[in-house]
Amino acid sequence: MPQRVRVGVIGTGGIAGSQARNLLAIEDVEVVAGCDISEEALAKFAEKYEVPHRFADYNEMLQLDELDAVTVCTPNIAHKEPTIAALKAGKHVMVEKPMAMNAEEAQAMVDAASESEGTLTMGFQYRLSPGAQTLKRFVDDGQIGKVMFARVQALRRLGIPNWGVFGRKELQAGGPLIDIGVHLIECAHFLMREPKPVAASARMFTYAGNKPSDVDCPWPDWDYETYNVEDLAVGFVRFDNGAVMSVESSFVAHIEETTFNVQIMGEKGGCTLHPPKIFRNEAGTMVNVEPAYMGKWKSMTKKIQDWIAFIRGERETQCPAEAGLMIQKILDALYRSAEEGREVPIA
Ligand SMILES: NC(=O)c1ccc[n+]([C@@H]2O[C@H](COP(=O)([O-])OP(=O)(O)OC[C@H]3O[C@@H](n4cnc5c(N)ncnc54)[C@H](O)[C@@H]3O)[C@@H](O)[C@H]2O)c1
Repeated sequence: MPQRVRVGVIGTGGIAGSQARNLLAIEDVEVVAGCDISEEALAKFAEKYEVPHRFADYNEMLQLDELDAVTVCTPNIAHKEPTIAALKAGKHVMVEKPMAMNAEEAQAMVDAASESEGTLTMGFQYRLSPGAQTLKRFVDDGQIGKVMFARVQALRRLGIPNWGVFGRKELQAGGPLIDIGVHLIECAHFLMREPKPVAASARMFTYAGNKPSDVDCPWPDWDYETYNVEDLAVGFVRFDNGAVMSVESSFVAHIEETTFNVQIMGEKGGCTLHPPKIFRNEAGTMVNVEPAYMGKWKSMTKKIQDWIAFIRGERETQCPAEAGLMIQKILDALYRSAEEGREVPIA
């Protein structure tokens, strides 16, 4: 019989529902508690997923005996403190992306995990998609050769969130780069086999989110009065093995269509994530290889399954806290470079 895992959810908004659904689909996993400062969000969540215990304060939730693990699904400003409190209480924790507001916070979370009986896992899911897992096999098999360059694109044609606090730097630490760019950066970095970043440079532009707009789009009427993050981030990251990554991330990219992709270029071949394709030379011919079959799982489902299997000691996680910290260092350096107008070293 699998080990029973009883989970508490901190922050019961948008992503918490998706997590709860996937948790409840696993045998012997229960969602025993929810915590939110919004009574309305908490009531909606608790009723929908039949969660027995409700809390407005996560410190009270952490005193529940019947709690083995916690997922942190709050806005970025509220990732560090509940994560550290839960680790101090000996719980296993999964924190949503991005790990924190900055690398200093992320480091404190990693340190807390090293002193805890619990574990800390990053809520990264792009690396767990069928496409990314397939491409990684080609990279690991040497079929791409030495990876020189990763191109990361997280570009919405017009998609400024009109819910939550995604336009508020003081609560999120940034805009599209930290919100959606982070997904493709973590995936690209995983496909590059996680070299250590050594320096980054970037420019950021704000030109749309801070103004009212009458353009028809799926998420109209965002809160332009509080919007103080970038609309477009363009960056460049250097790694210790000589490889480089370019990053383009935007909520408002004037391009033909929304593009979420990673391209990898290696000495022997290359690949794209969407659709998953490998480009190589074989038998004197340039060929494009498309997987004829890949798993059909949803990456969010895989992320939750992976976490529970890790907690149960069945396998290592592919989303360790250290990966979250490394990605956070890249994000920090990109933002700092844009502020200071120079390339910024990454320690
Ligand atoms: N992995 C993914 O694909 C994915 C998708 C969406 C969001 N996220 C991440 O999940 C986090 C939450 O995003 P969301 O879209 O669910 O936001 P949301 O605004 O829908 O929900 C956040 C909830 O947290 C609550 N909250 C805020 N401070 C709190 C505190 N101190 N204690 C308890 N509850 C608190 C809010 O009241 C709200 O109900 C963000 O970090 C975001 O980047 C990840």
